[in-house]
Amino acid sequence: MTLSIVKFGGSAITVKDEPFTVRRGALRSMCTQVLNHVEGGGKVVVVHGGGSFGHPLAMTYKLGEGLIDNESYVGVSLTRLAMRMLNEIVVKEFVKLGGRPFTIEPSSSFILKGGGLKSYFIRSVEVALEKGFIPILHGDVVLDEDQRGISILSGDAIASTLAMTLKADKLIYVLDVDGIYLEDPKKRPSAELIRFLSETMLERIKSTSNVDVTGGVEKKIREAFKAFHGGVKVVCFINWRRNNLFKALEGLSFKGTMIRED
Ligand code: IPE
Repeated sequence: MTLSIVKFGGSAITVKDEPFTVRRGALRSMCTQVLNHVEGGGKVVVVHGGGSFGHPLAMTYKLGEGLIDNESYVGVSLTRLAMRMLNEIVVKEFVKLGGRPFTIEPSSSFILKGGGLKSYFIRSVEVALEKGFIPILHGDVVLDEDQRGISILSGDAIASTLAMTLKADKLIYVLDVDGIYLEDPKKRPSAELIRFLSETMLERIKSTSNVDVTGGVEKKIREAFKAFHGGVKVVCFINWRRNNLFKALEGLSFKGTMIRED
């Protein structure tokens, strides 16, 4: 039996530049593929991003800078509520499809210090798995012990931490493109997909998103390498279309970017 951590990227499940807009078909497809794998005995933890629910609010209230004034507190509440809304949509989709989701609140299980992970409690994720649930977590605003008071914890960092701590077999980042490119494939359609990504190639990859408070593609790749060096054997970036997520989960050949040693 394999354990896989799957991150549903915010830009895969929402329309990133249209606030509060879900990509219903994409979400349904991803949930279905996860459930097909689970039916065959695979264990999966799902972590979803913020997309157009979390990021615009976090940007408006400058939450990346921490608690800077009274308005920051309003921003924390509104951003967290938006993340809950998106989480509810993801959970409902799983339930509709016959799945057994169980949300575990990142804000109660993770504490940061100066933006870096300080401590976390993920026994609840393990027990939820043991009891036959699909644990669901998401990027969120979490408490920070430092002066800043709060930080944004990305779903990417949650996913890599879970993958290492739970000794997962696979860590799969689902994106709205086929994988990692040297250039933004939306701006340059001829951009070439990187099939195998090693750490030395990192500095050649340009971050492109401007509505992302958690660091865009570079940070995502760094989290992926962290997990890879932490012992997770299969770390990849894929698109959900054409049953690609199911194929990656099952160990069949899939299209995407695989992390590998230099
Ligand atoms: C961001 O989570 C959460 C908030 C903005 C509160 P992620 O960083 O994982 O979201 P995506 O996948 O980039 O949208």
